[in-house]
Amino acid sequence: MNAQFKPSSVYPVLPNPNDVALHEIDVSDPRLLASGEWETYFKRLRDEDPVHYIEDSPFGPFWSVTRFEDILFVDRNHQLFSSEPVIVIGDRPEDMLLDMFIAMDPPKHDKQRQAVQGVVAPANLAQLEGLIRSRVEDILDNLPTDKEFNWVEEVSIELTARMLATLFGMPQEDRHKLIYWSDMATADPALTGGEADRDEVLQAMHECATYFSQLWLQRKEEIKAGNKSYDLISLLLSNDDTRDLIDRPMEFLGNLLLLIVGGNDTTRNSITGGIKFLNEFPKEYEKLRADHSLIPNMVSEIIRFQTPLAHMRRLATQDVELAGKTIKKGDKVVMWYVSGNRDERAIDTPDQFTIDRPNARHHLSFGFGVHRCMGNRLAEMQLRILWEEILQRFETIEVVGETEHVLSNFVKGYTKLPVQLHKK
Ligand code: HEM
Repeated sequence: MNAQFKPSSVYPVLPNPNDVALHEIDVSDPRLLASGEWETYFKRLRDEDPVHYIEDSPFGPFWSVTRFEDILFVDRNHQLFSSEPVIVIGDRPEDMLLDMFIAMDPPKHDKQRQAVQGVVAPANLAQLEGLIRSRVEDILDNLPTDKEFNWVEEVSIELTARMLATLFGMPQEDRHKLIYWSDMATADPALTGGEADRDEVLQAMHECATYFSQLWLQRKEEIKAGNKSYDLISLLLSNDDTRDLIDRPMEFLGNLLLLIVGGNDTTRNSITGGIKFLNEFPKEYEKLRADHSLIPNMVSEIIRFQTPLAHMRRLATQDVELAGKTIKKGDKVVMWYVSGNRDERAIDTPDQFTIDRPNARHHLSFGFGVHRCMGNRLAEMQLRILWEEILQRFETIEVVGETEHVLSNFVKGYTKLPVQLHKK
C-alpha cells in the first residue's frame, strides 16, 4: 500500500465500533466497507452524532454527514457546498487534477454536462438496448453450469467491460483496457485508500488519453465519410460544444474517464450485489421467480442496498449550521450515501432487502441536485436487461462461498462471489 495512507497507526486491527470513543470514530478507514462493520459504525453516528467531525484522519480533518435528510440538504445546496476540486475524501496535488464536470460547480458544470448528456437521452438508450441484450445473452449462455466460479470475474466485470466497450464503440478485444484504467482511477490510495501504486496510476492515465485520442481521430474520419453511429465518441463529435474537446487535453481525459468510471464500478458492483442479496433474502428470490414484473423495482432496491459509491465530498463555501454543528468555510464535508440509504428516519426497515418496496427509487445512491448521476437510467436499463435474461435461464444462482470486498472508502464493492448456477 502507498506510504501516504496509514490507516493502522492508531488501530492495527479495525476496532469493534462500540469500543471506540465517539470523537475518534473515523469512517474514512477503507477497511470499514471491506468488513461487515460499516453498518454498526454508521448507525452509531446517525444516532449519536449525525454530523460528525474528526480532526485527525489519514485524509485530514473532515465532517461526516450520515442522515438521509442532511445529505439531501448538502447535495441540493451547491452554493453552500462546492464540488471543486475533487469529489472523493482525499486530496490530489493540483498538477494532477483532471477537468471533470462532476468536480465543477455551476455555471461551468452545467455547460459541460449539457454538452454530453445527450449520450444518455432516451432515444440513444433505446438504440443501445438490443446491443446490450445481445452481450448479456452471450455471456450468460457461455457460463459453466457444472462447477463453481467467481461471479465477479466471469459476469460482473466481463459484462460491464462489454457494455462499456459497446457504449464507446470500441473493438471488444480492447474492453479490458477500459476496466484497467477505471480501476486505476479509483484505486489511488491518496484519494480513496485503495490499493495501487502512484506511478502505475499516472501511467494508466497516460495510456488512456493516448488510446482515446486515436479513437477520436479515427471516428472523426468515419463520420466525415458518412458512417454515423450512436456510440459516446460519435455523439461527442457531433455536438457543437464538444466536437473540439480533444483540443482541451485535461478536459478530454477528465470527461472520458468520468464516463468510464461512472459506468464501471457502479454497474459491476450492482450486478454482484443483486445475486448476493437474493441469496441472503431467499423469500425475495421466491417473490421474483413468481413475478418477473418486479424486476424494475428490484433494480432500484439493489442500487439502494448496494450503494456502489459510498460517499461524495464537498467543501463548505461559507460557515453553515447543520444539525446543531457549525461547519466552517473551507471545511471538507463528506456525504455518506451508504449511511443515508440505511437511515430508519427516512426508509422503513432499511436493513431489509425488499424487492417490492414502495417508492424504491427514493434512495441516495445516484445523489441529488445538479450532480445527480447522469447515467442513472442507463444503469437501470443495464440491470433490468440482465435480470430479464437471468430469469429466462436459471432457476437459482446460488452463492456457495465467502464474499471478498474491494479495499476503498469510495467504491463499495466485491472482488469475489463464488456461485453455482442451477438451470431451469
Ligand atoms: C454522477 C452514482 C452509473 C455517469 C454520479 C454521482 C453518483 C453516481 C453518486 C454523483 C451524484 C452527486 O454528486 O450528487 C452512480 C451509480 C450508478 C451509476 C450508483 C450505477 C448503479 C453511471 C453510468 C454512467 C454514469 C452507467 C455512464 C454514463 C455519471 C456522470 C456523473 C455521475 C457523468 C456526473 C454528473 C454531474 O456531475 O453532473 N453517479 N452512477 N453513472 N455519473 Fe453515475
